[in-house]
Amino acid sequence: MFAPGIFKGHRILVTGGGSGLGKEIGGRLLELGATLYICGRRESVLRDAADELQQRYGGQVIPVAVDIRDARAVDAMVARIWEDGPLTGLVNNAAGNFVSRTEDLSANGFDAIANIVLHGTFYVTQSVGKRWIEQKRKGSVLSIVTTWVRTGSPFVVPSAMSKAGVDAMTKSLATEWGRHGIRFNAIAPGIFPTEGATARLRPGSDPHAREIADNPSGRLGQMHELANLAAFLMADGCEWLSGETIAIDGAYHLAQGAYFTHYMEWGDEQWRESRERIKAQTEA
Ligand code: HXC
Repeated sequence: MFAPGIFKGHRILVTGGGSGLGKEIGGRLLELGATLYICGRRESVLRDAADELQQRYGGQVIPVAVDIRDARAVDAMVARIWEDGPLTGLVNNAAGNFVSRTEDLSANGFDAIANIVLHGTFYVTQSVGKRWIEQKRKGSVLSIVTTWVRTGSPFVVPSAMSKAGVDAMTKSLATEWGRHGIRFNAIAPGIFPTEGATARLRPGSDPHAREIADNPSGRLGQMHELANLAAFLMADGCEWLSGETIAIDGAYHLAQGAYFTHYMEWGDEQWRESRERIKAQTEA
């Protein structure tokens, strides 16, 4: 789908890049020539991921342990990366989430999510962005949100609120920092199963049966599809693309809000009968 080496010379930080979606996206950028920085809280997870990705794709992966909820630690990490050379791109992927009735949440429970997703994403983005502005360098920021930024979502309100904030940041800074050559886009993925999300969001058995049945495409997302969209959005070839949030969910969130989705179950016979009935009624 992409010419080999299109990310040569790019230096990209992926937050939460040691596992899940972040690792897959980072892997694709690495495979296409980027130097990859991955950060997360657990050093051993990051090291294992870096080894695995380098073995699979070659290139250079630099793991950096940091808690993105800590603004000072974030700025120190970005300063350390800059000692090797400036970043050219940032993927805001780190997140936390769990399902809970909203009336059962404590303030700490809300903060556990908002501190990572809303505050942490801002800390990293600002720390990288201010260096780009200071040094008159262009840059690209891609944030991973969810389709909940369009629909809201019950039982994950701290995440829905925080991701909506990241979506607002994407649009706001696309405008404010566009004059500095910094662009912002977001991906709103549907369900690309990862261990972390399945354990915290779908704790029962057969966690995806209903979502597969209700998805117009009849399946879940495949990681390479998400990684390819991320690579497309980060590539130099679409530099004028900024301020957009692109959903990749097989049209699931649209189908949930649409009328007539039960007609999906109709076969030829029902469509023939329906046509005859409409004709009879409109001619009567
Ligand atoms: C209710 C809960 C809870 C739960 C924690 N809390 N889990 N409340 N139900 N299941 C409350 C605790 O009681 C506590 O409040 C507060 O949250 C903090 O708890 P800690 O255990 O200290 O939390 P912490 O160590 O900060 O970690 C919580 C976490 C963690 C951030 C959610 O699970 C984590 O690190 N997750 C990262 C990975 C992850 O979540 N991946 C899934 C991302 S999926 P009190 O009041 O008791 O002190 C995603 C979107 C997917 O982002 C979209 C798909 C379409």
